Amino acid sequence: MDILIVGGGGREHAIAASAAKSDRVGHIYCAPGNAGIGQIAECVPIGAMEFDKLAAFAKERAVDFTIIGMDDPLAGGIVDVFEAQGLRVFGPRKNAAVLEGSKAFAKDLMKKYNIPTAAYETFDDPAAAIAYLETAKFPIVLKADGLALGKGVLICNSFEEAKAGVKSIMEDKKFGAAGNKMVVEEFMTGREVSVLSFVDGKTIKVMSSAQDHKRAKDGDMGLNTGGMGTFSPSPFYTKEVDAFCQKHIYQATVDAMASEGRPFVGVIFFGLMLTEDGPKVLEYNARFGDPEAQVVLPRMKNDMIEVMESCVDGKLDTIDLQFEDNAAVCVVLASDGYPVSYEKGFEISGLEAFLDKEDYYCFHAGTALKDGKIVTAGGRVLGVTAKGSDLKQAREKAYEATDWIRFENKYMRRDIGKAIDEA
Ligand code: AMP
Ligand code: GLY
Repeated sequence: MDILIVGGGGREHAIAASAAKSDRVGHIYCAPGNAGIGQIAECVPIGAMEFDKLAAFAKERAVDFTIIGMDDPLAGGIVDVFEAQGLRVFGPRKNAAVLEGSKAFAKDLMKKYNIPTAAYETFDDPAAAIAYLETAKFPIVLKADGLALGKGVLICNSFEEAKAGVKSIMEDKKFGAAGNKMVVEEFMTGREVSVLSFVDGKTIKVMSSAQDHKRAKDGDMGLNTGGMGTFSPSPFYTKEVDAFCQKHIYQATVDAMASEGRPFVGVIFFGLMLTEDGPKVLEYNARFGDPEAQVVLPRMKNDMIEVMESCVDGKLDTIDLQFEDNAAVCVVLASDGYPVSYEKGFEISGLEAFLDKEDYYCFHAGTALKDGKIVTAGGRVLGVTAKGSDLKQAREKAYEATDWIRFENKYMRRDIGKAIDEA
């Protein structure tokens, strides 16, 4: 079967690499893709938000199955557009993608169905938000309701900071319409874990856990980014934590969505905080994480396409989801200055070193082809990933592989996976 992947980052490269391993897959298209994806798929110059063009392309080329990698098209209803044209597509419909698309929706759902999460209030009036904050306990967390490229969350240490935060989200509309509503949430402390899962509307199967490093600088300093590196599994995601989440969070979320008339088909990404009072949901995403996919998918033993088709067909219960008994670490090579300002267009060398090596992957995030050469084209450039027998070995191998790559202004965190030493 021929497949189309929608997106063009490191996550979509990891999805394409897993698809390419499937015996069922013939030709792979990716829209818009990137230079690395172009080595295993045919990149198509159609934007991820051009739903009609994408659906027309899928029809014209008789694409059998489409996978949506990114959040924006899901929240915008790309799955509904494809389904209306009789196309098979993996991802939640618009009415289910709201699980990620509206933080207020997600919080209200958790409250209604007793799913553990931080206490919160929702506001659509800035004056009411400020009045509430006057008597609140600090630190406190402000969240723009809608999608904001992972940047719509402000942790405020004082009333003054929070007041300025309300202004920037709700009045200055720093995150656009995402700030029409705002969630004010209790600040939680603990370890963060990312758990991705496959869902077919009723059944949920969770993948191996992972942990992201969101801050730009070593020691979790600096600004929030899309993610500077990941490791999988998380040693903090113990059997006890898993048992708790299976009982109170995973199936409860899937059942809640079904009860609301919004059956969820696709990937639910649970952002969890392991607090002193037990695991709580920080956020839901309606797609694979980036760069979580880069460490989770290479460890999956199943044929990814078979699992995704079983979700679309409502038969996930027939799948025995299995992961390798090993570990993976992904170190993001970024352009120095990311996430604020950085230069692009530098030639990347050393990529060929990955070609003949098992257990090493170089997933492209922001790269482009220019005059036959691969150049940097974004803040996050590459996700250098390695598998090892355990996290320590995987980390050593991943950092060793970062040395194979050269480009001007190459920047990376040096402490990805360091937390595992404390486990
Ligand atoms: P989110 O986009 O909701 O995952 O938030 C981004 C990051 O902000 C999370 O990964 C956490 O590190 C932090 N964060 C979000 N909500 C809270 C909270 N209630 N307490 C503490 N940190 C939070
Ligand atoms: N790595 C976090 C995310 O994909 O949202």
